[in-house]
Amino acid sequence: MSDTHITSVLNEARVFAPQPEFRAQAYWQDLDAYRAEHERSLQDPEGFWGEVAKELSWFEPWGKVLEWNLPDAKWFVGGKTNLCFNCVDRQVESGHGDQLAILWEGEAVGPDGPEVRRLSYADLQAETSRFANALKAQGVKKGDVVTIYMGMVPELAIAVLACARIGAPHSVVFGGFSSHAIADRVDDADSKVVITCDGSWRRGKVVPLKANVDAACELTSKIETVIVVERCGNEVAMREGRDLWWRDAVQGVDAECPCEPMDAEDMLFLLYTSGSTGKPKGIVHTTGGYMVYTYLTSKYTFNLKPDTGQVYWCTADVGWITGHSYILYGILPNRVPSLMFEGAPNFPEVDRFWDICERHKVTQFYTAPTAIRAFMKWGDEAVTKHDLSSLQLLGTVGEPINPEAWMWYREVVGGSRCPIVDTWWQTETGGHMLTPLPGATPTVPGSCTLPFFGIDAAVVDESGNEVPLNRGGLLAIRKPWPSMLRGIHGDRERFVQTYFSRLEGMYFPGDGARRDAHGNFWIMGRVDDVINVAGHRLGTMEVESALVSHPQVVEAAVVGMPHEIKGTGIAAFVTLGPGVAASPELSATLQAHVGEEIGAIAKPDLIQFTDHLPKTRSGKIMRRLLRDVAAKRAITGDVTTLEDFSVLETLQKYQED
Ligand code: WT7
Repeated sequence: MSDTHITSVLNEARVFAPQPEFRAQAYWQDLDAYRAEHERSLQDPEGFWGEVAKELSWFEPWGKVLEWNLPDAKWFVGGKTNLCFNCVDRQVESGHGDQLAILWEGEAVGPDGPEVRRLSYADLQAETSRFANALKAQGVKKGDVVTIYMGMVPELAIAVLACARIGAPHSVVFGGFSSHAIADRVDDADSKVVITCDGSWRRGKVVPLKANVDAACELTSKIETVIVVERCGNEVAMREGRDLWWRDAVQGVDAECPCEPMDAEDMLFLLYTSGSTGKPKGIVHTTGGYMVYTYLTSKYTFNLKPDTGQVYWCTADVGWITGHSYILYGILPNRVPSLMFEGAPNFPEVDRFWDICERHKVTQFYTAPTAIRAFMKWGDEAVTKHDLSSLQLLGTVGEPINPEAWMWYREVVGGSRCPIVDTWWQTETGGHMLTPLPGATPTVPGSCTLPFFGIDAAVVDESGNEVPLNRGGLLAIRKPWPSMLRGIHGDRERFVQTYFSRLEGMYFPGDGARRDAHGNFWIMGRVDDVINVAGHRLGTMEVESALVSHPQVVEAAVVGMPHEIKGTGIAAFVTLGPGVAASPELSATLQAHVGEEIGAIAKPDLIQFTDHLPKTRSGKIMRRLLRDVAAKRAITGDVTTLEDFSVLETLQKYQED
């Protein structure tokens, strides 16, 4: 988080009441009503969540709503349900099989416009059943982890839901990650089946997904079966006995497959995310609580109402938690069509998103601040030339939004008509934690405002005591909530250490925050060695290990630095081996190397070669100083623990370059 951002948010005084026209049709229309219900949800979580859960379908009722033995939560104990059933079959059985479930648009724009596919709930039921049977035919059983590495095609949604249908937890690996990243995740999850595509489209070019999976197969011996969707028609090597085409896998397969009754606490999916050490962690989410929480947050945060002509669009990739919770699992049970877009925001032109909003009459639009900043740069005209009068609500997620971007979003995209929901949450929380309720909560540019129902959030000091208003501290969640992570796959110790040890008796998300005079929360960014680059989370140590795995690198220190579009960019300070000369070519080589080790999102924006890194006498790298250097601001704070003071001079010299 840059200093300028912090100063500007501290001075932010604009407050916007929900627009009357919006409020009139909102579930929650009044701040006091929200406060009363929030209070009730904290006083009586079992009563509150038990009622919500009854809005969904269960094969067997639960006994107890919550069993809490810190840090272990069990929700809807003994209840049996299936999330694919609630997304799909439930809608068919209630007579809505013909309604639109997924509205998909491809990236390429041909002479007749882009390719569009419309899947009704009945279509989804048939397709998920067919593919579920195909998975079974490949030997996939309840409890087997299936890895999914695909572009944003309809088959991705089908694959995810088919896994849920048969109780095989999925591990979706974002299609921008490298073969190393696939192999690490496959190994950690002990996953034998991978679903992929021949390639995925990115700004008219093919990303060779299948070739990346082939390379991953050289790095791990776990992969026994690879199912390949034909999307781009690029050349792929199919290995006999291991690889098969999706179309062949579903050929002649029965389109009926009952939904497996899942225990509320059975694992629904694993999703890997970066932490403050080198190795990404597999976040475990289970079925019942995650279902209920993502359902309710979708309904209230986005004000979703079936049969009112709404079209909801979240621009995230299903490879991230945002796509899991708010393209699929939370949205489909609300019976509002979910739009899925294959491509980039600026292809073929910078107005692509607005063109989509206009053509499909999008009503709810949910994106990331980094995208909003890019649009601002591309100019208002790209937005204003489109008729965006269908929009009712705008959302943002992934990183703090600067007030300037918030105001631009409100005025230029939303025509000052649409409330903005700035939703703070994480892979680990499963769903929105801090967010306005759009018809009830007054909003302030840059603040994610107030906790959702059932969320006991506070800003505390290291001893867990609440700090006074307007004072910075650590964000803490003091009570369990239904969609909280249930663990880190295979690493109990890390689970306890990371989330439940810094603050006694509370969940610690790793963010700093403060509350203003209205009690609104302001997220001040990560307080650990995690950085948030364009809304994507990366561990600085993960990038460092990628750098030092290059033979010419001896040591590397990675920090975040202010970046106009990405919010935070990546700065790497690198020391080279004896006799290795620094050069722009080497810099490019190292960037490419990180791209191969992790993925393009992890490529450093700046590589600064240096003979020494600033270290304490005990040998710890003083990243704080490097952050100052990278941000080109004065080196502040205590430097007395520096081992070698001459390093300071060298560092200051870099700021002049
Ligand atoms: C981290 C979680 C939640 C899905 C996307 C990212 C930051 C997220 C906000 C927001 C300020 C935010 C936090 C959080 N973050 N949303 N609205 N305002 N910061 O999920 O990769 O698990 O990252 O993203 O730092 O801890 P994730």
